[in-house]
Amino acid sequence: MHALHARLPKHFVLEERLERYADAIEAAPASYAGVWAEACRPLDAEGAARFSEVRLDMGCGKGAFTVEAAAREKDVLFVGIDFEPICIAYAAQKAVESGLDNVVFCPGISDKLGDYFAAGEVSRIYLNFPTPFPRKKEARQRLTYLDNLLRYRQILAPGGTVLLKTDSYPLWHFSQTQFALAGYDVSWESTDARAERPDDPMSWYEERLSAEGAKVFAIEAAAGEEPARNEEGVVEQTEPLSLIDYLPEDLSTMKYVPHGMQGTITNLRNLEKKGNYNRHL
Ligand SMILES: C[S@@+](CC[C@H](N)C(=O)[O-])C[C@H]1O[C@@H](n2cnc3c(N)ncnc32)[C@H](O)[C@@H]1O
Repeated sequence: MHALHARLPKHFVLEERLERYADAIEAAPASYAGVWAEACRPLDAEGAARFSEVRLDMGCGKGAFTVEAAAREKDVLFVGIDFEPICIAYAAQKAVESGLDNVVFCPGISDKLGDYFAAGEVSRIYLNFPTPFPRKKEARQRLTYLDNLLRYRQILAPGGTVLLKTDSYPLWHFSQTQFALAGYDVSWESTDARAERPDDPMSWYEERLSAEGAKVFAIEAAAGEEPARNEEGVVEQTEPLSLIDYLPEDLSTMKYVPHGMQGTITNLRNLEKKGNYNRHL
């Protein structure tokens, strides 16, 4: 398996890139909260004075999906957010080279989404191949962790949806529990999303991991009734947090090992081969 992280090629100067493709970058997304659809519409655009919708590609990586989706729906504003500035530089380059004026990229983090967007401003949130963070202690960083799903509720328009795609069966399974805790109504679940929705734009990770044999797992869900809160006003996390807990009982049935879990699964297989090991203890 190749390392899929964004690596810096020789002579790559981040500041220079960010400057060169600045037309497709909004470095201070919070200053657009509540006005994305009007403020980002070019003055000379034909038709309406505002975009019909604002959609968010959260953890957009190098922006292949965002730009392709924007090319297909020119009346919708696509905002790609990622906390890796290198990714934003690559994504902005794609946007500028595409000549599209309905896609913009921002350096930012999921924790701050409530600052970047007003309540009800976003009609759809794409979570394409989010980083799995398999360990229990990193679980909060998952884009489908309960707290993030609760944040998305604040910025989603009525009826707006979150659409998760992943190569990771355990992350998908974990995410099902989190959507339920956060009070979402699931409208679509799939263990082979590419077969069921063949025309959806492809993200870079989907392309790479499908070539390695991945199937795409998906969940689409809209905010339903507010979830119950405890006396402190907190929606309680009640589900296991290590992705190991969401692996199939018999690991030999797993022909494809999800991205980010190769080491974990090799170790588990070795330990289980030795006999007296119980992963749930
Ligand atoms: C595995 S990549 C997927 C990129 C792209 N969506 C795709 O499918 O090709 C996950 C991306 O999410 C970003 N990311 C992970 N957690 C994030 C967070 N909490 N806020 C912003 N970006 C995040 C990472 O920097 C990385 O670029």
